[in-house]
Formats: sequence, C-alpha cells, structure tokens
Amino acid sequence: MELTPLRRGDAREWARVRLDNQAWLAPWEPSAPVSWQDRHTPAAYRGMRRATAHRARAGTALPFAVRVEGRLAGQVTVDNIVRGALRSGHLGYWLDSAVAGRGMGSLAVALVCDHAFGPVGLHRLQADIRPENGPSRRLVERLGFRQEGMFRSYLDIDGDWRDHLAYALLADDEPRGVLHRWRARADRRPDR
Ligand SMILES: CC(C)(COP(=O)(O)OP(=O)(O)OC[C@H]1O[C@@H](n2cnc3c(N)ncnc32)[C@H](O)[C@@H]1OP(=O)(O)O)[C@@H](O)C(=O)NCCC(=O)NCCS
Repeated sequence: MELTPLRRGDAREWARVRLDNQAWLAPWEPSAPVSWQDRHTPAAYRGMRRATAHRARAGTALPFAVRVEGRLAGQVTVDNIVRGALRSGHLGYWLDSAVAGRGMGSLAVALVCDHAFGPVGLHRLQADIRPENGPSRRLVERLGFRQEGMFRSYLDIDGDWRDHLAYALLADDEPRGVLHRWRARADRRPDR
C-alpha cells in the first residue's frame, strides 16, 4: 500500500471505483443535488482534484490517493486545516470495498496522521463519524482516537442532517507515532 498525490491520469480509474462502490460509500457521503452517476465522471474527478490542489497550495488540505498493489483504491484527506493557536484538521477517508477488511484503511490513516503531526506540525486531528458507521469507528479507535462528544444533526449526509460522533487524536497521544501503534496491534493479531 502506498500514499501518493492524486494524479491527473487517475480520472477514469477513480470514476470506475467510485461507481462500483456506490452502495458501500453513499451512506457516508455528503448530500448532492445531482445523481451518483453524474458526480463520478472523469470530469468530476478533474474538478475535485483541482479544488483539493488549490486548498493544498493554500495550506488548508493534505490530499492523498491510496494505492494498493499499484491500483487506485481510495483517498485519505486532511481538510479544514487551521493554523495559529488551534493547529488542527479534519480527516476524511474511503476505500474500495474490494480491499477493505485487511487493515489497509487504518494503515493509510496512520501514515497520514504521522505526516500531519510530524512535518506539517498539526496538534489535533478530528474525525467526525456517524454512530452507525462501525468500520470507521473501529478504524479510529484502533489508532487511539478518543470520542470527545456528539454533534447533533451536524452534517448533511446521504440526504439528511445526521448526528456525528466527534473523535480526535492529539500529537502527544502516541509519542512513538501512530504507525507504531498500528504495527503493534497488527503484530498481536492471532493470524500472525
Ligand atoms: C472505513 C473504512 C475506510 C475502513 O477500511 P478498512 O481497511 O476495512 O479498515 P481497517 O484498516 O480498520 O481494517 C478493518 C479490518 O481489517 C482487519 N485488520 C486490521 N488490521 C489488520 C492487519 N494488520 N492485517 C490484516 N487484517 C487487519 C481487522 O480485522 C478489521 O476488521 P474489524 O474492523 O471488523 O475488526 C472502509 O470501511 C470504508 O471505506 N468505508 C466506506 C467509507 C467510509 O465509511 N468512510 C469514512 C466515513 S467517516
């Protein structure tokens, strides 16, 4: 598994993976006035890539593609980065269902957390997760995120305002790094 920038040449692959995964992704995605089909064209990818590249240049986003065995298999993004006294950002992520359930999502998020807390210098990463999203809650809990509260009707997701649990990880929570924690847990798995 590797993290890379979003590449210009990923447009068709991104559209294909996202279309194939509609039922898997839609319950956790922002509501939109256009169909899933229309949101997942190669042109839509190019627009999304331009917009995130703009935010990355402005220092308010860290966008990554997740590649598994060389194929585009997801994204991890830190967005809404605020500097000054807060030094915080919001995490978002998705994976192709074909590669889920193997620890790839938590590994990708662990690597991004260490980058954000290390060279980027953030102090806090927040992940807002619907209570119904068991896999996502297990992912952040596995990496040491703590649940700090619950936001009522917080985000307009999949056609309605949805409650979200507020999870956060601080730079000091894992002094040896988040990847170290992921590895330690992976080594304790019974299949090892
Ligand atoms: C949330 C999401 C990214 C999780 O991806 P993932 O790769 O399956 O997540 P993890 O890395 O936590 O791995 C999960 C499973 O892999 C297994 N696993 C964990 N570490 C492993 C390792 N080192 N080796 C092999 N398997 C491992 C675990 O058994 C775990 O299963 P469990 O959660 O039932 O206990 C994925 O479900 C997804 O894209 N969902 C749809 C979009 C979404 O919900 N986005 C987040 C919105 S807040």
